[in-house]
Amino acid sequence: MAVAVRREHWHSRFAFVMAAVGSAVGLGNVWRFPYVCYKNGGGAFLIPYFVALFTAGIPLMVLEFSFGHWARGSPPTAFRRIGRKWEWFGWWTVLIPFGVASYYVVVMSWCFSYMIYSLDLRWDLDADVFFRSFLGDTGDPLVVGGVSVPVLLGLAVVWFFVFLILYRGVGRIGRVVAVTVPLPTLLLFLLTVRGLTLPGALEGVGYYLTPDFSELLDVGVWLSAFAQVFFSLSLAQGIMITYASYLRRDSDVTNNAFIISLADAGTSFLAGFTVFSVVGYLAVSQGVGVDGLGIAGPELTFITYPTAISLLPFAAVFFGVVFYVALLTFGIDSAFSMIEPMVAGVNSRWGVSKFWATGLVCLAGFLCSIFFSAGSGLYWLELVDHFVADFGLVLIGLFECLLLGWFFGASRLRKHANSVSDVLIGRWWDVLIRFVVPVVLAVLLVFSVYENICSPYLGYPWWVLLLGGVMPCLVLFLLSFVFARIGRGRYGVCSF
Ligand code: PHE
Repeated sequence: MAVAVRREHWHSRFAFVMAAVGSAVGLGNVWRFPYVCYKNGGGAFLIPYFVALFTAGIPLMVLEFSFGHWARGSPPTAFRRIGRKWEWFGWWTVLIPFGVASYYVVVMSWCFSYMIYSLDLRWDLDADVFFRSFLGDTGDPLVVGGVSVPVLLGLAVVWFFVFLILYRGVGRIGRVVAVTVPLPTLLLFLLTVRGLTLPGALEGVGYYLTPDFSELLDVGVWLSAFAQVFFSLSLAQGIMITYASYLRRDSDVTNNAFIISLADAGTSFLAGFTVFSVVGYLAVSQGVGVDGLGIAGPELTFITYPTAISLLPFAAVFFGVVFYVALLTFGIDSAFSMIEPMVAGVNSRWGVSKFWATGLVCLAGFLCSIFFSAGSGLYWLELVDHFVADFGLVLIGLFECLLLGWFFGASRLRKHANSVSDVLIGRWWDVLIRFVVPVVLAVLLVFSVYENICSPYLGYPWWVLLLGGVMPCLVLFLLSFVFARIGRGRYGVCSF
């Protein structure tokens, strides 16, 4: 039985572009790119990065946009349109970002607390100790510990905001991103100017960008570039398919893909200056080398940066608050973009109203996140992130290219994109989607698996890796088949 069809639409092209940029630009740009760049050859890394962006990132973005625009449905609906038996794959693409959101929101909750702590620079000069006690860190992944109350409260607030933004549909998303995309970008500029005018800034930036061309001979560097592009552009997550499905029939596809990808890459590059100027300042103030400071992940955002803020000669509180507001606003549109595909899937699959679908998915997400707010949450967060985001993403990307490029037909999607777009794409795109991207992703996957087998991630025992890494991936994979089976026969698209 088909449920009445009533598609939502973006109010304007601007709303769509902003929403997609909002999803792409997130916490990943502010700490992940600068760190990955510095670790993999500094300035020289920009070569593999841009090669990855143009050969895989943008082509896959065009693929997801054209497919979403052609299918006009949430990923489960969209993949079902090419064959009933592929619906499970659509569910898989929406379950992975749901899994990612369950811990991404936890990092946002930390930002939320830190925004408040910035008001009196509560971490004092020992940001490291403060961070551990704020989390109630047990120091051991196997000792679960108690739930951190500030983190829990932050979680409730962030999930509530995600709910408020999503339940009224894409109209509200469009209004929210009109603020949450330009605002943090402006704040990032402000922070960069402040950072670059600090003593030691140039040392930091030099460290970030000094090219080491010998790194380009290392295949691992190329793999990092592709992985960074995928993560940063929010690809292979059903997100861009969902967002493109809300475009009007005659909307542009290709040009938008270029604009969004380049905006994301530009923000990452800029964030490198913001972060490393401050890291340089901190190194000079403390009389240590840049090497000696943490610059990746939680260390950067919650230890290195707060320490530097405390040392600022004036307006430390102001810049502290600005930094965390920027992170929160960068993060929120990535966070709700991870949830929207699942909401759209539940809404269209079972005709559940958008209000209830959003409520249910956010509640489930909140319950999953609580696990990461316990004393050992930090360790599990790193573990789940490594397995679910890295492997899940690459696997889905690979499968997507094979399914859409070979089974559905890359040329069919290219013709669809060309029929509505300003910029026309040629046959080279089919070659990228059918051969180049799948081969690169397959190599990436084989290498990562090999690397993980040779040296267990973070030196954890096997059973911990199986429990915290492999099991969540497996559960999400199996759930996709369960979802595809539940309520068969009742199908359609319904918005409110
Ligand atoms: N692209 C986002 C970032 O750079 C993260 C993200 C990953 C968002 C996966 C959605 C899906 O932070």
